[in-house]
Amino acid sequence: MAPYLRRKCYYSIINAGWQEFFEKIFLKAEIMKDAMIIDTHAHYDDGAFDEDRAEILEGMKEQGVGTIINAAASMDGCRRTLELTREFPFVFGMLGVHPDDVGNLTEADMDFIKKNAAEKKIVAIGEIGLDYHWDIADRKVQKHWFIRQMEVAREAGLPICVHSRDAAEDTLMAMKEAHAENIGGVIHCYSYSREFAGEFLNMGFYFGIGGVVTFKNGRKCKETVEMLPMDRIILETDAPYLAPEPFRGRRNNSAYLSYVAEKIAEIKGITKQEVIEKTGCNAHTLYKKLVSGMPE
Ligand code: NI
Repeated sequence: MAPYLRRKCYYSIINAGWQEFFEKIFLKAEIMKDAMIIDTHAHYDDGAFDEDRAEILEGMKEQGVGTIINAAASMDGCRRTLELTREFPFVFGMLGVHPDDVGNLTEADMDFIKKNAAEKKIVAIGEIGLDYHWDIADRKVQKHWFIRQMEVAREAGLPICVHSRDAAEDTLMAMKEAHAENIGGVIHCYSYSREFAGEFLNMGFYFGIGGVVTFKNGRKCKETVEMLPMDRIILETDAPYLAPEPFRGRRNNSAYLSYVAEKIAEIKGITKQEVIEKTGCNAHTLYKKLVSGMPE
């Protein structure tokens, strides 16, 4: 890692407090020695991986992917995410329910999420948010569970992963209402304007960048990457969805993040390795329970 990036990385740890600094310093040294890609958002519990899940996951190290965070989208997904984190040492998880799936949620589900959020490998609450594109659940219901799950995150002391589609204003309003600036987290698959990006930056949020940045019609995403400071970007696939060029339309997997890192490097005028190092460092700053790297 370049000395400049190494310094920035240490500064971010120091800002997080001395205690954490000592806890993490050896870990960070490990990451920097041999930086590997961290996929901060994938859905390996999805049926699209039923045929070859273990094979795909076990092939990741060879392809430069060291750590994967599996994002739950439903209560069933929460259970499968927990299983994946137990089965694969390099798979971490986030627990939460996607706005499309909040229709039948109950407080007992919140208790389940809260209880299991204490597990060592659960690093965040997500993906949660608002989706007015598909409008599957009633908007009032979506808002209720978005805010409720932000409260769960606050109680659990974990950051949030926000899914927001065609709902920029309401998302921002709900986040302000819940004081999300004190919870922290990431806007997953960011798709809004620069102005809104500024608002989320001011709240201290990170931005998940994935395959869309490589799309020919991904101009908005490229512009966002251009304006974002490098210390607020993390890599994510959303696998099996949103495969980057030249695999667009096919089943996505974490190894394809190499193409995303390359595109970000091109936009930012730095090397691909620097993108991998910096985004890995950011992922560790955001997800404090993350332990990087494949075990030998
Ligand atoms: Ni997702």
